[in-house]
Amino acid sequence: MRVLGIETSCDETGVAVYDSRHGLLGHTVYSQIPLHSGFGGVVPELASRDHVRKLAPMVDALLTEVQSTARDIDAVAYTAGPGLAGALLVGAAFARSLAWAWDVPALGIHHMEGHLLAPMLEDPAPTFPFVALLVSGGHTQLVQVADVGAYELLGESVDDAAGEAFDKTAKLLGLGYPGGPALAALSRHGDPARFRFPRPMTGRPGLDFSFSGLKTFALTTLQQQSEQTPPSQREKLHADIARAFEDAVVDTLAIKCRRAIEQTGSRALVMSGGVSANQALRARVDGLMQELGGRAYYPRAELCTDNGAMIAYAGWQRLRAGQHDDLRFDIQPRWSLQELGSGG
Ligand SMILES: Nc1ncnc2c1ncn2[C@@H]1O[C@H](COP(=O)(O)OP(=O)(O)OP(=O)(O)O)[C@@H](O)[C@H]1O
Ligand SMILES: [Mg+2]
Repeated sequence: MRVLGIETSCDETGVAVYDSRHGLLGHTVYSQIPLHSGFGGVVPELASRDHVRKLAPMVDALLTEVQSTARDIDAVAYTAGPGLAGALLVGAAFARSLAWAWDVPALGIHHMEGHLLAPMLEDPAPTFPFVALLVSGGHTQLVQVADVGAYELLGESVDDAAGEAFDKTAKLLGLGYPGGPALAALSRHGDPARFRFPRPMTGRPGLDFSFSGLKTFALTTLQQQSEQTPPSQREKLHADIARAFEDAVVDTLAIKCRRAIEQTGSRALVMSGGVSANQALRARVDGLMQELGGRAYYPRAELCTDNGAMIAYAGWQRLRAGQHDDLRFDIQPRWSLQELGSGG
């Protein structure tokens, strides 16, 4: 069975073909970052228009690349939410039209379910049950996963997502948008002993997160230190702040992961979403799970951020679970993972 996956929830156009016997046959991602970078963030209307331009040629090229034709595709899966309403509508309308024309089922997929299942595209793949840490530009969540569609939210950010905090702090340091990877690169040159940032919400029980204070802490540190720092030392100051910020985020995430693992008795921690590409976080989580006698799983870097492969894979899992959407369709710009059932 072959599923075409289409992702358009934000500023990446992703398309992929997943084959239930042979795995991921191919995927391409077109990033709109250059389109939005001059604005310091995503401009929704520009995002929608660019998805319109890119989708058809990308699907066409991908089918050729994986030596498939429309006749080989058994279902079309697309991101139905959460995300930008206009961008979601473009993907939904396009996917639905293809499915209608090809006479195959169309499946609306939850974007975070896509992220959550993405590590299952790797070898070795995690098996259910597991605890998932979803760390992306819009979400920071710990989820207990019993099976496809059986998701219990253990904790989440009460304000900024971890990726959002990375991006905002990177902006303060003049690193452009999206700044997560740039901040992580700069932090490697930073002195871990110079500043210590707080580890928010770790001093009390619970699995929720709060990251907006860290960005403010970074701003205050930058303002205070900049006055006493000669221009030749500014780059060093920025690297030291980047290091203190990254250490605080990684430490905070690791503390809550340990709690979630201890609370649930799980032996597997699955990490996904853009921030899970962060090397310091991966190293920390690997060490933690080794210490706890379990294992950490995460996707290859290109499948951490938005992509069509995770949507194609989630689509196949949903098809297998018996999901059949009728011809009416709706997008859900706000949509909780817990509202998902096991299919049907
Ligand atoms: N190496 C890295 N270190 C830290 N953050 C990173 C790294 N690589 C990517 N990110 C961050 O990941 C985020 C993008 O991830 P992703 O594409 O999964 O998020 P999103 O799709 O915008 O949000 P959501 O999935 O919640 O809707 C950005 O905030 C980016 O800065
Ligand atoms: Mg995403």
